[in-house]
Amino acid sequence: MTDKTLVILISGRGSNMEALLDARLPARVAAVVSNNSQARGLGVAQARGIATAVVDHRAFPERAAFDAALAQEIDRHRPDLVVLAGFMRILTAPFIERYRGRLLNIHPSLLPAFPGLDTHRRALAAGVQTHGCTVHFVTPAVDGGPIVVQAAVPVLPGDTEERLAARVLAEEHRIYPQAVRWFLEGKLKLEDGRVAIDESCRHPETVVSPPGRP
Ligand code: GRF
Repeated sequence: MTDKTLVILISGRGSNMEALLDARLPARVAAVVSNNSQARGLGVAQARGIATAVVDHRAFPERAAFDAALAQEIDRHRPDLVVLAGFMRILTAPFIERYRGRLLNIHPSLLPAFPGLDTHRRALAAGVQTHGCTVHFVTPAVDGGPIVVQAAVPVLPGDTEERLAARVLAEEHRIYPQAVRWFLEGKLKLEDGRVAIDESCRHPETVVSPPGRP
């Protein structure tokens, strides 16, 4: 058993959440919290016996009030780490400050390229040959926090947004549990606004999609 505790925030499908639950991390997932009562991932979490909660952003007049309610829900569980897994709300600076150094996000592009939404469509439109995903600590700069790990995938001839998204998602499911594990094992920290990571985490195959994986 472990004394570490995670809270996972989702807004929808929850496949990254599932990858985290499947990864047998050295932590207890105390709760999955969503801003969207219809999020598919809530049912998946419940089916695994994990506590869920909904803090509906539409019930709050402004972001600050929503973030305060969300923080209250999270803090009930005293998590060591809060994991954004497809959580589609922009968070206010006080919220981010409260969880400084213990708030991770996954973004479906090789940041700093393509912050924001519709990353796969924009990558195809830009004609990039390499795309991918990024795990980063969250700071007030949207999708701009210090980078922990990235995985790259090729953009292949004839790719559609869906095919490219699926190729990237497979890598998300690989690197996000890896990054969370490093954090839980004390190998990954945010120090003075920079990522401090144990040398043992720097295997090339954790950074780049292995060759032969289309
Ligand atoms: C993922 O592509 C993630 O990178 C992005 O939103 C998507 C969420 O997918 N932030 P899921 O809910 O984890 O399946």
